Amino acid sequence: MAAPVELRVRASGGEYPIYIGSGLLGEADYLLPHLGAQALLVADAAVADFAGAIERACSGRGQFGRLLLPSPVAKTAASLERIYTRLIEGGYSRDCTLIALGGGSAGDLVGYAAATYQRGVDFIQAPTTLLGQVDASVGGKTAIDHPLGKNLIGAFHQPRAVLIDLATLDSLPERELRAGLAEVLKYGLIADADGFFDWVQGRARDLLGRDPGALAEAVRRSCGIKAEIVQADEREQTGARALLNLGHTFGHAIEAWQGYGDWNHGEAVAAGLVMAADFSWRSGRLGLDDAVRIRGAVEALGLPSAPPAGMQPEDFLRLMGRDKKNRAGVLRLIVLNGIGRAELIADPDPDLLHQTLAAGGGLARG
Ligand code: GLY
Repeated sequence: MAAPVELRVRASGGEYPIYIGSGLLGEADYLLPHLGAQALLVADAAVADFAGAIERACSGRGQFGRLLLPSPVAKTAASLERIYTRLIEGGYSRDCTLIALGGGSAGDLVGYAAATYQRGVDFIQAPTTLLGQVDASVGGKTAIDHPLGKNLIGAFHQPRAVLIDLATLDSLPERELRAGLAEVLKYGLIADADGFFDWVQGRARDLLGRDPGALAEAVRRSCGIKAEIVQADEREQTGARALLNLGHTFGHAIEAWQGYGDWNHGEAVAAGLVMAADFSWRSGRLGLDDAVRIRGAVEALGLPSAPPAGMQPEDFLRLMGRDKKNRAGVLRLIVLNGIGRAELIADPDPDLLHQTLAAGGGLARG
């Protein structure tokens, strides 16, 4: 295996590596240094083959257990209890390490189990979806859902290491690949380091065609931007980290309106990015040409550039009112002052917001 790329994240509890390479999960060198005396691998059953590779790489070292969860992994109290039960029955103590293998849901769930079991144990993120690799696995946000809302129960708990095996993307369903590309594009919009937005737009066909070099570069640059933002605002206190939610206020409303069953997160965020661009243009922050370019990039990645038919402005306003970014009942929104220049604003102009919602991010279409 070629040596992986290594990025570092400086967090309050210490620094940790993000390794990015192909075939990493079968390599003891990147796993063993981060494991305690006991380790429990908790994996999405859909990636059981990769679980086998990790198990072989760790064979012969201390206690090593494996728990496969039904796919898709549910971020529920019931799933959490299964992990706790396995840990307690297996006699796992405070110096154990959990390994989260799967998409963003597996990472969030296992991370939250690690944050809370015996008041906190170590864990490793081994994300197997593009969305998990470029976003959820880095930065220590862990959570489960409550029947009344997504990600409402959670904790900040940084991993000991993030192992991104690009080989996992070979078998990723097409739709999930595109969902991850929505988050990649988002990084180009909030931090256009070295023209990343243009790069993503220009390599859209290669990314969709799973060109290994293009995907490796997309993951490396996205994780680099995420690491910088997390280092600047680990607990989302200054507003810097909130910028990662560009397009998400609209996107979360779309997901909730659909009952989390139709579009996936990345698809909803993609439409949300175009709506955020539309609002930024209407409020005089973003040029129309840039807003139209953003819509073009979303479409080039095969993602939806408008909300689902039938979703009304009132639906958006009701659901956006529940966003976790809001403070004291005041809506907060991420806007663009240019490509690569995002800003968190409070109390967006209601008339302009209504225009965006009524136009469905329509920009210059009409
Ligand atoms: N996914 C947004 C964040 O990590 O803050």
